[in-house]
Amino acid sequence: MNELTPYQLTKNVLKAFAGCNDPRLKQIMTSLVTHLHEFANEVQLTADEWRCGIEFLTATGKMCDGIRQEFILLSDTLGLSAMIDAINHGDDVETATESSLLGPFYREGAKEEAFGANIAHTEGEPALVRGRLMDERGQAVAGALIEVWETANNGMYEGQDPDQPESNLRGKFRSGSNGEYAFRTIKPTSYPIPTDGPVGQMLVMTGRHPMRPGHIHFLIKAPGYDTLTTALYSAGDEYVNSDAVFGAKPSLVIEYVTNADAGAAKEWDLPSPFYEVQRDFVLCRQSA
Ligand code: BEZ
Ligand code: FE
Repeated sequence: MNELTPYQLTKNVLKAFAGCNDPRLKQIMTSLVTHLHEFANEVQLTADEWRCGIEFLTATGKMCDGIRQEFILLSDTLGLSAMIDAINHGDDVETATESSLLGPFYREGAKEEAFGANIAHTEGEPALVRGRLMDERGQAVAGALIEVWETANNGMYEGQDPDQPESNLRGKFRSGSNGEYAFRTIKPTSYPIPTDGPVGQMLVMTGRHPMRPGHIHFLIKAPGYDTLTTALYSAGDEYVNSDAVFGAKPSLVIEYVTNADAGAAKEWDLPSPFYEVQRDFVLCRQSA
């Protein structure tokens, strides 16, 4: 029997997984154990500290149900969700629109709206968002489903806030024959991720802020193309360079341009001036 040094301990644990018949599971468990042991060694983790860690994970688990998922929030705030997104989209064609986090506030079942419909039923700075969906060669993608959602001016999504009208700032649109889409909304505001749980405590204890820069989420589905989960982040937002969940990417930052053309305001039934965003999306063809 070998003496149980930290090095030997890691070897023993890895040996215990040696008989795992699923090669991928074996690879994941081997790497996980190796890195966990290295981490504990590197920081010389004390028993008290690991007890705190277990209490933290237990509290995180207790805050998970069909509505609240504190483990996803933990993954988001540790940058793990963004890392997994980056790893899995690293091979996308260079011109394709980059992906971003889905977040916990997506709700299925948004009603399909007409081209240009207004999804804002609460106050804010009016904005027209429009552009085209295309493939990597610039060919229009027609008939795609585009779901969008964003927070109201109070920083809350409709699903978090009983005071907002049903479907406020959510909508489903279909791209036209030239790939065109348009909707009216309000310029999004920055907002805090939920901070009333253990992840919020972790942010406070580590001196981090909980804010996400203002953004509009997009989920775009078209037959024959990879589903695109992304978001457009507002240029100039105070938090665009320090997103609490690391989802904002430079290619997804957009300008809200003031449109003072009274005719355009009339055409779109918006007050003058209004904000306008022009943004195309490039979808990736599904690999065979
Ligand atoms: C969101 O953008 O909705 C979001 C993403 C990650 C964590 C919390 C919120
Ligand atoms: Fe969001």
